[in-house]
Amino acid sequence: MVDAKPRVLFNGDEIAARVREIAGEISAKYPDGGVLFIGILKGSFVFLADLVRAVGRPCHIDFVRISSYGSDTASSGKLDILMDVHIPVRDRHVILVDDIVDTGLTVSQYRERILQMGPRSVEIAALIDKTGRREKHVSLDYCGFRIEGGFVVGYGLDWDERYRYLNSVCLLEGE
Ligand code: IMP
Repeated sequence: MVDAKPRVLFNGDEIAARVREIAGEISAKYPDGGVLFIGILKGSFVFLADLVRAVGRPCHIDFVRISSYGSDTASSGKLDILMDVHIPVRDRHVILVDDIVDTGLTVSQYRERILQMGPRSVEIAALIDKTGRREKHVSLDYCGFRIEGGFVVGYGLDWDERYRYLNSVCLLEGE
C-alpha cells in the first residue's frame, strides 16, 4: 500500500452534515444531556470532538485504547485493553464512539465489558460501517456512512499512522 493514493469518498462538508444529523438524533434522545461518550482511540478522536460539540449539551467524555485479535490468530476473540475507561459507568447513559466498524470484534467485545459495569444504557456510534468483513453482528445506533469494503483514511483514520489529519474520508487506492 506504499504507493496508494487517497481518493475522497466523503468530503468535509458531507461529514459535517452527517455529524449534525447524528447529533440531532442524540440531542432528541437525551435532551438534558448527561451522556458519557467513550471514544475508542485513536481513530475516533476527530469524530468524537465534532460530535460532542454538535450535540452541544453537558456530557462526560472518556477515551479507551483497545484492540481485538481477529479470528485468524490463536487468541481469537480476545480484547487487549491498553487503557480502560476511568469515569464511572454505573447508572450512566453510555455512547461508545468508534471510527470504523470492520469485523465488529473490537466494539462488540468492549460493549460487553461496559455492560458488566452497570450502565443505564449503552449505544454505539460509528463514523463508518464497513460491512463486507463482519464477523460479529453489531447493532449501530448511530452511523455516519456505510461502505462495503476498501481501506479508508482521514478524519482520524490512519494507515500506519498517516492521513489522520485529512478533513475528508478517503479511499486508499492502488493497494
Ligand atoms: P474491528 O471492527 O474489530 O475489525 O476493528 C475496527 C478497527 O480496525 C477500527 O477501529 C480501525 O482502527 C481499524 N480499521 C478497520 N478498517 C479500517 C480502515 O479501512 N481504515 C482504517 N482503520 C481501519
